[in-house]
Amino acid sequence: MTLARIGLIGLGTMGAALALNIAEKGHRIAVWNRTSQVTREFHAGAGALAPQIVPTESLADLVAALAPPRAIILMVPAGPVVDDQIAALRPLLAPEDLIIDAGNANFHDTERRAAAAEAAGEAFLGMGVSGGEEGARHGPSIMGGGPRAAWDRVAPVLESIAARHQGAPCATWMGPRGAGHFVKTVHNGIEYADMQMIAEAYGLMRDGLGLTAAQIAPVFARWNGGILKSYLIEISAAVAAATDPETGTAMLDVIVDAAGQKGTGRWTAIEAQHLAAPIPVIEAAVAARNISARREERAAGQAAFGAGPQPLSLPLEDIEGALIAGKILCYAQGFTMLAAASESYGWGVPLPECAKVWRAGCIIRSAMLDDMAQALTDDPARNLIFAPAFADLLRQHHGALRRVVAEAALRGHALPALSAGLAWFDTMRTARGTANMIQGQRDYFGAHGFQRLDGKPLPHGPWAGQGA
Ligand code: 6PG
Repeated sequence: MTLARIGLIGLGTMGAALALNIAEKGHRIAVWNRTSQVTREFHAGAGALAPQIVPTESLADLVAALAPPRAIILMVPAGPVVDDQIAALRPLLAPEDLIIDAGNANFHDTERRAAAAEAAGEAFLGMGVSGGEEGARHGPSIMGGGPRAAWDRVAPVLESIAARHQGAPCATWMGPRGAGHFVKTVHNGIEYADMQMIAEAYGLMRDGLGLTAAQIAPVFARWNGGILKSYLIEISAAVAAATDPETGTAMLDVIVDAAGQKGTGRWTAIEAQHLAAPIPVIEAAVAARNISARREERAAGQAAFGAGPQPLSLPLEDIEGALIAGKILCYAQGFTMLAAASESYGWGVPLPECAKVWRAGCIIRSAMLDDMAQALTDDPARNLIFAPAFADLLRQHHGALRRVVAEAALRGHALPALSAGLAWFDTMRTARGTANMIQGQRDYFGAHGFQRLDGKPLPHGPWAGQGA
């Protein structure tokens, strides 16, 4: 029997789709699932691709089916299951055999696993995969982390299965250890923020302008023909246009307004705090999901404090402009955080490559990312808001963001992400801020000292000794 080029463990939705993608690109693949029945059904349903797939019934069979040095992708739930799987598999492998964790791992776990593998002289990669089931099946965006030599060994397979942007594969090595999973985490933070801002725009149209879902769908579709062109705007149009087969009403109108989350957006917010990297739009989006889950409390709030959002008079162009500005601000924050993490962890993540790898296949793919890749290539150290193309867009559209946030506030519409973006933007264009007051307060109650604008030494203010 011909040995397989690559192995895959975990035939859930993502694993099965990835395995079919690998087989379709001409690579012989051996697969194993904890429940053999799942493996058999997967193989039986693989149709014309079945001859490329080797179903195995034990880990030992899987290992025996692979050509050395072996490479095995894990597509199992993130967390302890990954550790258990590695512990079960490692003793069956040679040190140079490569384990690739392709789940949505917390990058701290990947750092730990990478350090353990390095200490034992074993090959290990942590790999972020974006694009959902459809992406996994037909071309995901792949963000790798680990030893460069290990990446290079499997890169031909990964590049062949990845999405392509103008011919270039969206599969890139982001740096050592947890770098790939970290880039995927920030991707998800941005994903949360992008989704939240679109949901806020939807709310303005529904509650402020009184548009039905069927009327909102073509607005999103129209925006998808302009600067906002992106997968998330495209699917928002499709979601708004869909009808509930049971009731015949708009699908959106029967969906409970409480957002789920698996945690990756939250990890972005937590890590941002550790890094002191300001990402208020993403943080607001994470908080908004948490608040959305508190439905009863929100209903009690409406009963206690008023009748919810009131009608608005805003042109649709302003809402579009607000989204354009909000999106730029959010991505600028995300890339700044990536740079801060890369420096702090010593990964050397190539920021332009992040923007490039997100141009196709992943959930946040958009036309704007192409220009961001260019801006970051021109100057990777510059905050995106100062890149000429984006500075121009901000000058054009921050007025719309301001009008939308102000009108919405007056009429009781909650815009947590858009308003966080505006506040950050205004802070970023205020040369003389207000932290002098904070420094005065800190010195007053804690004798923390401060710096003077004139540079003269003065360890404490005239209030010294008054204390808390
Ligand atoms: C992707 C997605 C994918 C998934 C996440 C987010 O890039 O393909 O980010 O990984 O949608 O699990 O899910 P939650 O919204 O449940 O956190």
